[in-house]
Amino acid sequence: MLPAVTRFFHPVLPSRELSKGEAVVTLAGRRYGLSRGRSEVGARALGDAPPARVCERYGYLWLGDEALPASAEPAIDDEGFEHVGCFGARFEAPLHVAFDNFSEDEHTPWVHHFLGWREADLSRLDFRSENHPDRTEVRYSAPQRPSVWTPALLLLPGDHFHNQWVTRFDPVRTVYTLHWFDPKTRRPRPVVSRFAIYFVPETAGRTWLHTFAMARLEPASLRFLMPVVRRVVPFLGRNEVGDDARWIPNVAGTPFSFEGMRLGRFDAPLVHNHHLLETLYWQASMG
Ligand SMILES: [Fe+2]
Repeated sequence: MLPAVTRFFHPVLPSRELSKGEAVVTLAGRRYGLSRGRSEVGARALGDAPPARVCERYGYLWLGDEALPASAEPAIDDEGFEHVGCFGARFEAPLHVAFDNFSEDEHTPWVHHFLGWREADLSRLDFRSENHPDRTEVRYSAPQRPSVWTPALLLLPGDHFHNQWVTRFDPVRTVYTLHWFDPKTRRPRPVVSRFAIYFVPETAGRTWLHTFAMARLEPASLRFLMPVVRRVVPFLGRNEVGDDARWIPNVAGTPFSFEGMRLGRFDAPLVHNHHLLETLYWQASMG
């Protein structure tokens, strides 16, 4: 049995999937009924779950302990960005496996199709990570792999991408901020995208990734292209997460401990992440 995690609000269901009536969700092995009345949404615990309450933010229903104060309600760092879509993806793997997959980058050339880098550019990848007491931060850049979608992101051949990500554990989520630039002048391209991905344990062997896609266009003279960006950014995000979801069953049995494993430079965030996963998420959840 997993520890209860409702000490933190977790996204559990897109609002659009509960237009009326009731839906049942499972969070860390405990079942809850979510209902929508005329003016508000409600949550009731089923079986031996603790009482819970629900709040609605960013197009999602979020579940947390009944006693959580309003200050604990979710706040996504979206300053300067427009929310352009949200979606859930089911990962048939324990939380730590799905989370590790999104915390390293070595799989990108083989698992992904549109974003990220090609194997041939491995030596041109600049990858740095920093460990902090409450988070992990990574910055990396590389040549953008060619794809049919790069023109829709207003990119030119040869552009590089820069991905900055910050992982926090209350609850477990990573915010990726992705922009592209001309490697000669370092001038940024107009589109900046941001994906806040929450790693939500359904059971010991299944994890939901709930993603909030955001975008920004600079300069203001190009904002007339925003309708295109609103469609392309969530589409690409959903595709990339889908690539990982299809691949994850291959490694679902990976143990939590890294003992005996050979870790490379892309694995630098993983050990610290596991430490914070235990101390800030699971143990905090156990109170
Ligand atoms: Fe991936």
